[in-house]
Amino acid sequence: MSNDWSSGYVADIGYTYGYYNELNPLRMQLAFLSAGLVAPQVGTACELGFGQGMSTNLHAAATVTRWYGTDFNPAQAGFAQDLANSTGTQAKMYDEAFAEFAQRGDLPDFDYIGLHGIWTWISDENRAIVVDFIRRKLKVGGVLYISYNTQPGWAQFAPVRHLLAEHAGVLGAEGQGAVARVEGALAFTDKLLATQPLFARANPHVADRFAKLKDQNRAYLAHEYFNRDWHPMYYANMAKWLEPAKLTFACSAHLLDHVETLNLTPEQQSFMAEIPDAGLRQTVRDFMVNMQFRRDYWVKGARRLTPLEQLEAIRLQRVILVAHRPSIPLTVKGALGEGNMSPQIYGPLLDLLSDYQPHTLHSLEQAMARHEVTFAVVLQAVVVLSGALHLEVAQDEAAVTRSKPQTDRVNAWLLNKSRSMVELSYLASPVTGGGVRVSRFQQLFILARQQGLQTPNEWAQFAWDLMRSQGQRAVKADKVLTTPEENLAELQSEATFFVEKGLPILQGLQIV
Ligand SMILES: C[S@@+](CC[C@H](N)C(=O)[O-])C[C@H]1O[C@@H](n2cnc3c(N)ncnc32)[C@H](O)[C@@H]1O
Repeated sequence: MSNDWSSGYVADIGYTYGYYNELNPLRMQLAFLSAGLVAPQVGTACELGFGQGMSTNLHAAATVTRWYGTDFNPAQAGFAQDLANSTGTQAKMYDEAFAEFAQRGDLPDFDYIGLHGIWTWISDENRAIVVDFIRRKLKVGGVLYISYNTQPGWAQFAPVRHLLAEHAGVLGAEGQGAVARVEGALAFTDKLLATQPLFARANPHVADRFAKLKDQNRAYLAHEYFNRDWHPMYYANMAKWLEPAKLTFACSAHLLDHVETLNLTPEQQSFMAEIPDAGLRQTVRDFMVNMQFRRDYWVKGARRLTPLEQLEAIRLQRVILVAHRPSIPLTVKGALGEGNMSPQIYGPLLDLLSDYQPHTLHSLEQAMARHEVTFAVVLQAVVVLSGALHLEVAQDEAAVTRSKPQTDRVNAWLLNKSRSMVELSYLASPVTGGGVRVSRFQQLFILARQQGLQTPNEWAQFAWDLMRSQGQRAVKADKVLTTPEENLAELQSEATFFVEKGLPILQGLQIV
């Protein structure tokens, strides 16, 4: 299960090729502005535990920020370095454990340090190393992005994680490999739950949650549930850990958390308003929403913007629509369930954005004034659309122009890999300064288009030829399509969908 270098961390199965836009410093700036806080300009940034390094590399390619990072898994670091070196993203990607990396003498001080999915999966010893690194290397005014499992959201399910890890430790054999250990533990737990233990009756959400868990990617499950260390942490304990690094909680990196009407009832909001201490308010809020996973920004020296400074800075922000306008539902999901987005506000706003080009909030403010919508309402709508992943922050034109040659190289490399790898589903945009989700089929269609093929049917044929030569098949509604006719028909329908709904967005994002 673990090697000497891995400190009990799952190392015999590579992590997923995920990209996390909370790590994008541009998005951090919108969150800070919405919370009324001064955000740093990010010249240097560092990601600890970068996994396959997609986020670090895409951010390095798509902006002028100098990125550094480490992940002690050499296979993952190898992929990350290959991408960086082959495309010149300039990201410095190491394969060192945190303890070793923290001692390097050649690292700059950082405006931004990010850890996604690390903190609650490592030991106290490693946590102390990380905090000391942040204390020494994060600049005054610098920001930490950190995500972690928290309580009370894990109160019911934590025993299931214990059981899974216990089964893997006791009955799983080293030589089986991670996937077999995961499968074995899942099957065992399934059988146990089928006996209707009192535990499951006392914790009625467990069965549902386990049913969903069983369908998840095995590499993800191995890393999420099967490490030696797994310690969900209360917000207040997190604050204590970060105190020596002089960090103050800034705001949530999940932008929908900024809109309390989506998450708290009026009664809960009044209850919260009476709590004088900001830290206790966070703890209480976690109870209100049964928080399970926090994604937070912390800052070394929180400074408030005056209302005028906040207004001026927000007006300069640029945003771009990254979802197909007619397909965007006028509902959004918060802790309270599904909330409605007013058609009088979101209708005209989405129409303004439907050219898939960047717009300043100032220009949106002026245009929305004609619909008698105030700037405060426009800002809230932008935060909601961004939180729902329909909209991203766009960097300024000069930065877009500087980054474009780098994102073109990275995208060419990723598209080439996608011919055979099915796991890659992000490309880099010089406009958003980060990654954008593009399915594998769509990547193959882009490749076909780059090679001069003109029609969706030709792109589908190109994709099918590549897939057939490697024994790959399309999947529709959980069913593997077996005949060439079925596969081609599915690819043709995907390609037609892509022309209508995907291409205009990718053109605006300067990916194609
Ligand atoms: C759950 S994964 C998250 C990866 C990445 N941040 C993401 O979200 O895609 C945790 C990562 O931390 C790395 N890791 C764990 N302990 C580490 C340590 N002590 N030093 C360096 N990397 C470590 C693992 O190899 C793994 O890739």
